[in-house]
Order: sequence, then C-alpha cells, then structure tokens
Amino acid sequence: MRELRLKEAQICFGRNSTRQVGHAARELIGGSRAFLLTDNHCEKIARTVRNSLRDAGYRVTQKSLTPGEKKKSLSTANTLYPVLLAAGLDRSSVFLTVGGGVITDLGGFVASTYMRGLPLIHVPTTLLAQVDAAIGGKTGVNLPHGKNLVGTFYQPKAIYADADNLSTLPQKELIGGIAEVVKCAMIRDASLFHFLEKNTDGILNRDSSLLDEIIYRTASIKADVVEVDEKEGGGACHPQLRPHGGACNRSGAPIPENSSRRSGLDRDGGRGTYFLDHGVRQVGRRRETEKPASRLPASDTDHTRFMEKSAEGDHVRQEGPGWAAKVCPSR
Ligand SMILES: NC(=O)c1ccc[n+]([C@@H]2O[C@H](COP(=O)([O-])OP(=O)(O)OC[C@H]3O[C@@H](n4cnc5c(N)ncnc54)[C@H](O)[C@@H]3O)[C@@H](O)[C@H]2O)c1
Repeated sequence: MRELRLKEAQICFGRNSTRQVGHAARELIGGSRAFLLTDNHCEKIARTVRNSLRDAGYRVTQKSLTPGEKKKSLSTANTLYPVLLAAGLDRSSVFLTVGGGVITDLGGFVASTYMRGLPLIHVPTTLLAQVDAAIGGKTGVNLPHGKNLVGTFYQPKAIYADADNLSTLPQKELIGGIAEVVKCAMIRDASLFHFLEKNTDGILNRDSSLLDEIIYRTASIKADVVEVDEKEGGGACHPQLRPHGGACNRSGAPIPENSSRRSGLDRDGGRGTYFLDHGVRQVGRRRETEKPASRLPASDTDHTRFMEKSAEGDHVRQEGPGWAAKVCPSR
C-alpha cells in the first residue's frame, strides 16, 4: 500500500486497501459509532467497509441513496441530519462515504456541517472520485440555479483509493475518469502521459495494477496542486501552477479568454472538459497517420453534461485523435 499526506488527510492507495478502513478509523479517529453514506450501486463495497468497521469495534449506521446527481442537494442533506442524530452520532464519531463524486461531495458537506464537523473518511469508488472529487476537501451540493453553489472546504482524515473497487464501474464512468487522468498528465506529467499511451489497452481492460498506478500518480498531482492552493485563490489557481498565464482550473488547465465555455468553466471548474475540447487535439496531432475519430464524446460525468448544456454548439467534435479515439470510441 502506498500513502500520501495532504494537509490533515492520509491518502492510501492499493488493491484491497478497503478492508483496512476500520483499522484506520480506529487508529486515526477512535470513537464507537460510525455512519456510512453510500448509493445503491456501491452496496458491495459498502459491505466490505461496514464489516471492517465492525471488526474494529464500531457500531455502524448506513444510509444508501438512489444514485444520481439529483441527490446532491440541500434537501438530501436535510434528510440525513436527523438520521445522524437518531444514530447518536457526535463529534467523536466517524462519518464515511463510499461512492463516486456525488456521494463524496454530499457526504463531505453533511460531515462538515453536522455539529460543526465530524471526522471524515472517503472511500471513493469511481476513477474520477479517486483522482479528483475525494481529494482536496471541496464539498458541495447543487441549487436549482447551478452546481456546487453551496459547500465547504473540509479535509477528510483519510481517503482510501482502491483500484479493485473500479471492477464494477460502468465503462462510460471509467472513461470519464480517464479523461481527468489524461488532462492532468498533459498539463503536469509527461511520463504519466507516455505511461497512458503505452498501456491504453490494459487500462481500458481494467488491469488493477495499471489502474493503481494511474490513480496514485494523478492523485499525487492533485495533492500537489491543493497543497499550494487549497481554496483556489478565490477563483484562479496559484501562479506557480499557471505557466501559461491566464485563468485556469484547479489542475492548471488554461481557459482561453475567448472560450465560449468560459462562463461554464468558471462555474463548474471545467474538469475534463477543457481536455476534451483542446487537449485531445494535441494528442491527435501526434498521431496524424491514425484513423480519425468522427466524434470524441465527452465523459458522462455530470459536470461534463452540464458543460455541454451550457456551451453553445457542439464543441466536443474532434478532428483526428487516434489514441483518444481508442479511449473514447465514437457514439
Ligand atoms: N469536490 C470536487 O473537487 C469534485 C471534483 C470533481 C467532480 N466533483 C463532483 O463529482 C460528481 C461526479 O462524480 P462521479 O463522476 O464519480 O459520478 P457519480 O458519483 O454520479 O457516480 C457515477 C455513477 O457510477 C456509479 N458508481 C460509483 N461507483 C461505482 C462502482 N464502483 N461500481 C458501479 N457503479 C458505481 C454511481 O452509482 C453513479 O451511478 C459531480 O457532482 C461533480 O460535481 C467534485
């Protein structure tokens, strides 16, 4: 198992690490009660976490939500607070999330606001959540007016990113996460980019060792960025991470002044989408002799759907990314 430190968070990587969550909670936090928030698609992973918590002596209460972005709301948060009260949770208890970015964002928000904050552990189960949403301490819920308009900065005590937990993830969700990984590699780590090029088939076939490697390396990039600029400097990233000058998202991706998506990017953080819009074209240039892709779809993550809706026209159409076409086959 590999580990990184980010602020007060211990980030643990490694296949099968999920079984150690109970032990980690005991070591890092203590207490006797635990609350586990998950969604119906992640029940199997939640069971592993629940068993490890029980083995570590915790009395566990679990709540499973219907999956989907709609649940990331104040009304869901409002239904959870009374459940926490009824389960006797107090500030000596542990709050855990087991799920994708919707669950880590919502759970983080509830954990940070109930009794002014409970110790939190994330077990992210999508690639996007393992390399991005669970890292950095941003929590949030949506309002009818837009995404992530209410939230907090709240660092978890631990994050368990276990590549084996991606085995049941739908392919389109895996690809959404890969978009984030490629974006980070293009901006910050050429050797990771070459690793991705070399191992595309294995990654798409979910070789757990390869997934473990890209999760670790991408999460390390995120952790570096957050370490320097935890709260995004009021909207723009730290100059150190912005060699190109202008505005950028938290990974350091530049957002051109004249981008028709700029307003959407500013609201959303633009994760993945900038890469899909511009970055892949660079990959395409490297492989001009390969068969062109007719259309490079955006990932199906909600933020990307949001971006597509807010953009004018179809900006994800691409001209010839052979390698990217393999990652994102046309549809
Ligand atoms: N806080 C941040 O810094 C940050 C960063 C990026 C994205 N986000 C947020 O993350 C959310 C998107 O996250 P996401 O892409 O993980 O989507 P998600 O949480 O909606 O998960 C996608 C789907 O995959 C299912 N799923 C999750 N893990 C699974 C598994 N192991 N096996 C089978 N099914 C599984 C979920 O039930 C859901 O249906 C958005 O709300 C976005 O705003 C937050």
